[in-house]
Amino acid sequence: MRQDDLVSATGLARADVETVLDRAAEIAADPGSWRERHAGALLALCFFEPSTRTRMSFDAAMKRLGGDTVDMGPVESSSVKKGESLADTVQVIEGYADALVLRHPKEGAARMAAGYVDVPLINAGDGAGQHPSQTLLDLYTMREATGLDGVTVGMLGDLKYGRTVHSLAEALTEFDAEMHFVSPESLRLPESVRYDVESAGGAVREHESLGAVLPDLDVLYVTRIQRERFPDESEYRAVAGEFRIDEATLADARDDLTVMHPLPRVDEIDAAVDDTDHARYFRQAHNGVPVRMALLDLLL
Ligand code: CP
Repeated sequence: MRQDDLVSATGLARADVETVLDRAAEIAADPGSWRERHAGALLALCFFEPSTRTRMSFDAAMKRLGGDTVDMGPVESSSVKKGESLADTVQVIEGYADALVLRHPKEGAARMAAGYVDVPLINAGDGAGQHPSQTLLDLYTMREATGLDGVTVGMLGDLKYGRTVHSLAEALTEFDAEMHFVSPESLRLPESVRYDVESAGGAVREHESLGAVLPDLDVLYVTRIQRERFPDESEYRAVAGEFRIDEATLADARDDLTVMHPLPRVDEIDAAVDDTDHARYFRQAHNGVPVRMALLDLLL
């Protein structure tokens, strides 16, 4: 790993991705032998937005490496409520821990915060920006299921505000993936992400319906419509429920199609899909622990 921080998937080299994924596979094969690896190390969890998976899997990862965590707790009970700036907050917290995980509603917050601290900082989601540690576990899951080189991936749903898609699309350019972006017109990939994907040699193929591309896909990556990021509730209602995957939808898919979702889902994937061989999203969430153990091990 040639980086001190992980704030973005932009510029994340294939070699770095493979280093993390290979280390995660080593850990998953024999988790017990990593129990003392980082004994005494402390990871600070700073979540300015809700989280279940990212917060808990980083917590579990640090503890399974022999370390521990200190948690800023809910914003409402922190001094952020008194008006403390993000820059001051992270500069204080870096004195309490060996690394810092930050989720924040503002795009660019992690990059800005990383400039204020000397300990490794991991972006756990910055608004509608990026979520690079999610991308590493997505790539790990995809590599297990289908391999990465030349994979054909459809990304479906809220591509405008969905930060997991932004990071994943950029990272997949390192693997010569064929990417299809399926969304309503109003939720297309942002220009900045399109620019980064195309600059890295990727092609952006956009569609407003899934039907035409579904039979070609190795992986269907479904996302939630990010209700909390819509400036106007009526805009959200206009697109909510537009794409819903159920067994009937998947009738036209290949038998070996892998369905992924960063979760949480609301109603994008019918629960009946959970019992099919397509469903990989719970395993994907569980992979968060070995992948984040690997990331912490390499950054620490
Ligand atoms: N996938 C993901 O980031 O989930 P959480 O919001 O629960 O952390």
